[in-house]
Amino acid sequence: KKIIIINGPNLNLLGVREKSIYGTKDFQSYFDELKASFAGVELSYFQSNHEGAIIDKLHEIGFNFDGVVLNAGAYTHTSVAIGDAIAAITTPVVEVHISNVHKREEFRHHSYLAKNCVGVICGFGLDSYKLGVQSFL
Ligand code: DQA
Repeated sequence: KKIIIINGPNLNLLGVREKSIYGTKDFQSYFDELKASFAGVELSYFQSNHEGAIIDKLHEIGFNFDGVVLNAGAYTHTSVAIGDAIAAITTPVVEVHISNVHKREEFRHHSYLAKNCVGVICGFGLDSYKLGVQSFL
């Protein structure tokens, strides 16, 4: 299976950023562990801080991958355009968040993406990504 993890804005700073919320591990180390634990899965990774770059990536892979695990970061709560891109492609998308967004500020409770996703996983720390990958197997 071909599965991609896409991370949005500020997620390049995992391990450095707001450690009490997002933890101390950087994403590359977590991704390496994940790849090792899903041998047989073609797992790739893309990160961008730019809304349009995330949309371009969704268009590029969105008709030939088996699944997208997407943490769009704050764009989750603002981006009609990423929501539309998810609706436009045929590859199924699972929305993930490291933190339990429902325990946090009100503005994080709404997602413009969720209604076009297969499901939403949040609150399991970095293992939200693992659960996202598992959901496609
Ligand atoms: C996040 C939650 C978002 O509200 C926030 O803007 C992020 C990270 C998470 O993984 O918990 O950047 O998507």
